[in-house]
Amino acid sequence: MYNFPKGFFFGAATSGVQSEGSKNQINKSIWNHWFQIEPEKFIDEIGPEIVCDTYNKFKEDVSLMKEVNFNSFRTSIQWARLIKDFETGEVCEDAVRFYSEYIDELIKNGIEPIINLYHFDMPIYLQDKYGGFENKKVVQLFVLFAQKAFELFGDRVKYWTTFNEPIVPVEGGYLYNFHYPNKKDPKLAVQVAYNIILAHSKVVNLYKELGFTKQIGVILNLTPSYPRSQNEKDLSAAYMADLFFNRSFLDPMLKGEFPKDLCEVLKEHNLSPEIEKTELEEIKKSKVDFLGVNYYVPRRVKAKEIKDEKFENPEYYFDYYINPEGRFNPYRDNNEIHPVALYDIAKNIQENYNNIPWYLAEIGIAMDLESEGSISEDGFIDDTFRTELMREHFIQIHKAIEEGSSCFGIHQWTFIDCWSWMNSFKRRYGFYRLDLVTGKRIKKKHSIWFAEVAKKNYFK
Ligand code: FCB
Repeated sequence: MYNFPKGFFFGAATSGVQSEGSKNQINKSIWNHWFQIEPEKFIDEIGPEIVCDTYNKFKEDVSLMKEVNFNSFRTSIQWARLIKDFETGEVCEDAVRFYSEYIDELIKNGIEPIINLYHFDMPIYLQDKYGGFENKKVVQLFVLFAQKAFELFGDRVKYWTTFNEPIVPVEGGYLYNFHYPNKKDPKLAVQVAYNIILAHSKVVNLYKELGFTKQIGVILNLTPSYPRSQNEKDLSAAYMADLFFNRSFLDPMLKGEFPKDLCEVLKEHNLSPEIEKTELEEIKKSKVDFLGVNYYVPRRVKAKEIKDEKFENPEYYFDYYINPEGRFNPYRDNNEIHPVALYDIAKNIQENYNNIPWYLAEIGIAMDLESEGSISEDGFIDDTFRTELMREHFIQIHKAIEEGSSCFGIHQWTFIDCWSWMNSFKRRYGFYRLDLVTGKRIKKKHSIWFAEVAKKNYFK
């Protein structure tokens, strides 16, 4: 029997852009813009305008959450929806109404909202005018937006997060070309990463300075790097991958300082960002109350075979490889399935990051429509494949908790199949299927298993 601590969070996560739709949104994000100029880049040319239409359907959706016995739920406030004038921080009244009613509806139904402030959604106005997080001016404007959100909803929201996967806009927008502005520029990437860390720290400090006493944290995608062998070169490749992809954000955000090795490596390649001393003090001072962790797949690395001429991205230091003994998800690009990674993440937090309270903020198993199949006679979609894998992942979390890890919840990605950026709706993750034609939500079988676990706080 796998028992979880009392009050353990069970729920799901989504984000503003991926679920709300752009109805009544005066300002738009880079996603609306990118889709407008290059719709062919998005699978089936589906953009973010309608998606789950949560803007209109949030009441109905909260009642669906109750059917799965959620006691908590994460979404994000869209900067481009809440703020009417980015420079002055003037808010949009309809957005205040919407978020207010949405948050109240959750609370009224016994569902603790976890509200995130940035989920890849730079307002296009700020990207165009200042280059988004390339520019420290935008750091300042992000703090203003956060302040408005705290003032408006801080009386009710007990769990805030600053950023979801802050490294992803850096990778997508400045290294690997899967987010707007689609640049490939490692120097700029480092500056953007640094500016985001600064923005995060300033917002955490502001929250405390304003006298709020609930919790503020950040959500990081922590993908453990496993070396091909114990050979020194493979080990060093894994070390570098971990340094770039995990410790780059973990250390400053949790320990208040950047890993020395990372600073040296960046300097060697002439990639160091512009830093002011007072900013480093701000970063040092900021203490998060909790950490959210997103996990999907492990990172398998080996020593670099052919040296790159110059540093274009972190793969300068390693090559990827496919684990010959791995298990793979046939429904999603053969992603490796490795539940033990969750235990390893928990141990890392426990041993190297002071066992800070954390929760699994995203875990998901992607399937496409075909593999999930159509509605069966009992009215459900049969995604038992998902349940078996989730169960294995949950067991690893349970094991870590037994060994003292301070994990306080599990949120699955996602609640209703949502829009997944360039992949639009190709990969389905939800407890409910979204019918793109009718907008109907159709329950998947996995939600029955999850509802039982959430209700009992254990599974067998
Ligand atoms: C994560 C993102 C989330 C979603 C899932 C599938 O990396 O946080 O927005 O797209 O992947």
